[in-house]
Amino acid sequence: MTNIPTFDRHRRLRRTAGMRDLVRETHLHKTDLVYPMFIVEGEKMRKEVPSMPGVYQLSLDLLTEEIDELEELGIQAVILFGVPNEKDEQGTGAFIDEGIVQQATRKIKTKVPSMLVIADTCLCEYTSHGHCGVIHDHDVDNDASLELLAKTAVSQAKAGADIIAPSNMMDGFVAVIRQALDQAGFTQIPIMSYAVKYASSFYGPFRDAADSTPQFGDRKTYQMDPANRLEALREAKSDVHEGADFLIVKPALSYLDIVREMKNNFDLPIVAYNVSGEYAMVKAAAQNGWIDEQALVMEKLLSMKRAGADLIITYFAKDVAKWLAEKNR
Ligand code: PBG
Repeated sequence: MTNIPTFDRHRRLRRTAGMRDLVRETHLHKTDLVYPMFIVEGEKMRKEVPSMPGVYQLSLDLLTEEIDELEELGIQAVILFGVPNEKDEQGTGAFIDEGIVQQATRKIKTKVPSMLVIADTCLCEYTSHGHCGVIHDHDVDNDASLELLAKTAVSQAKAGADIIAPSNMMDGFVAVIRQALDQAGFTQIPIMSYAVKYASSFYGPFRDAADSTPQFGDRKTYQMDPANRLEALREAKSDVHEGADFLIVKPALSYLDIVREMKNNFDLPIVAYNVSGEYAMVKAAAQNGWIDEQALVMEKLLSMKRAGADLIITYFAKDVAKWLAEKNR
């Protein structure tokens, strides 16, 4: 026999589909998925978001059908965004009892009590200027905004929300919201903090869907600089200290290194937000026939889990649940 040098034969474990199944390290499950929904006022509205094919602004009366579909697919968590008709300087629509998210929450929890309702806690969809807090001197006033965010969180919990997800990036928001929830008797309601949220260009389509584009300036004084990694650790550390129960990293795909940092440094469940721009890019390429959508989406989401995400918020949730069911058949 010729003298073959010794080396590792990695291909042994890739030889057949069964063998590859046996040694697969990361898996995607339906229970990993959170489905975002945009709720509008009015009736019989099911309006597709132009930059997000397959994603709709949905009126309250059509909500229950959608929730039934999600339940059938085995998706057990939704995150709600409200798109109100009326906006004002303070974002009053965010914290009134008849706010759109509060109404939607009550509806969902009455119809399907087991569906986990995550309420996005922010003001940008409700303010006339489109910023995530109240404005003083052309910038968002941190401490003045905190009070309104706390009110918003409590009103969402009162409506029946299972999880409060503050996304506004004010300093101290977890501490203030935790205290307000506890004082109102909601000690059992967890906070899923958007701990690490970058000032990203990947949110464009969301701002079309939620009608939340800032009317002046940008969000760079409160959302993070995409260049920074250590800052993400500082942000997350504060939120953990203040009482967060989950940590979100957003966006996901260009920030998988940050997802891994979170997983390695903190012992809370880590959530990756597969944002609107990431969705739109895939859809656009798929519509052109340039990529295999299903294969690409599954690879993308799997990579988020491999990076350390325990949960994924994604507009692809329904598709993924269908694909997983087909695979298991
Ligand atoms: C609200 C909020 C935003 C997103 C989630 N919550 C928009 C923003 O910060 O401008 C973006 C989600 C997405 O792009 O899918 N602050």
